[in-house]
Amino acid sequence: MSGGRIPILLDVDTGVDDAMAIALALRLDAVELVGVTTVAGNVTLEHTTENTRRVLAWLGAPEIPVARGMSRPLVRPLRTAAWVHGDTGLGGFAPPPSPVPLSPVTAPEFMVRTARERPGEVVFVCVGPLTNLAVALGLEPDLPRLVRRVVIMGGAFTVPGNVTPAAEFNVYVDPESAAAVARSALPITFIGLDVTHQVALLRTEWERLGAATDPAARLVRGVGQHSFARRGIDQMHLHDPLAVAVAACPNLVRTRATGVAIDTGLGARAGETMLVERPGLPTHDVALEVDAAAFGTLFRSALRLEVVAG
Ligand code: RIB
Ligand code: CA
Repeated sequence: MSGGRIPILLDVDTGVDDAMAIALALRLDAVELVGVTTVAGNVTLEHTTENTRRVLAWLGAPEIPVARGMSRPLVRPLRTAAWVHGDTGLGGFAPPPSPVPLSPVTAPEFMVRTARERPGEVVFVCVGPLTNLAVALGLEPDLPRLVRRVVIMGGAFTVPGNVTPAAEFNVYVDPESAAAVARSALPITFIGLDVTHQVALLRTEWERLGAATDPAARLVRGVGQHSFARRGIDQMHLHDPLAVAVAACPNLVRTRATGVAIDTGLGARAGETMLVERPGLPTHDVALEVDAAAFGTLFRSALRLEVVAG
């Protein structure tokens, strides 16, 4: 670790909350963002990749490597969530293009090389469908030994899903990849809707960001347009920022050590994530409680979202 900071590789489908997660990873002193890999999910791979590059440049970090990943799930057709994130995926926010070209390697290859170069050091934070990570596991079966931890925003273990009553979006889009990951010996912490539905940005906060000057605060204002101005919702769940925060501060959540099974069928429960105890099934940490107040303070101070006077 360089200077005691935690090296993080962020795997994203940027997306509104992914953009805020990137901002948080850049702003936390405890985090060294070593690279960002992109995957299709909230919107197509072209948009998630372009959005990621533009967000990094907007936040003053265009030099952070961005590696383009899988354009569709392992088995199923891609299903996006443009109705949540807007047609381009940034909720109507349109930062300028990045001056820095894409990494010359694919996302799975970037994951493998990063883990090999810094064995036992790097934390992967995966906040989109798990297609890149599943392919990386296939490229390097020793990945579980090479990574320090994998924090996954995904699943709904004791609460209903957000795409169907059974399934959370990231797992729903690519259940086969999620199942391969859950069956592996990767040291995983799952951050599911059980805890992410307890942390949100409120409309009243967003409305006060109109006069913000900090680039991260202006990004939050910009990506919130689709949700708050067009869809008229009262709060936006901070799914992906919570995963980044837990990578830096694991004590924000309380977890249960258990096996995880994924429904990879074609029925109504497809993408369901279940807590199971089964001989031979690796044990992972599943977050079931969160210190929402502590996370809220961390997130708001890092992105300078303090209430703008007036
Ligand atoms: O279910 C929430 C997750 O799906 C978040 O990662 C959001 O960005 C979408 O990818
Ligand atoms: Ca995401």
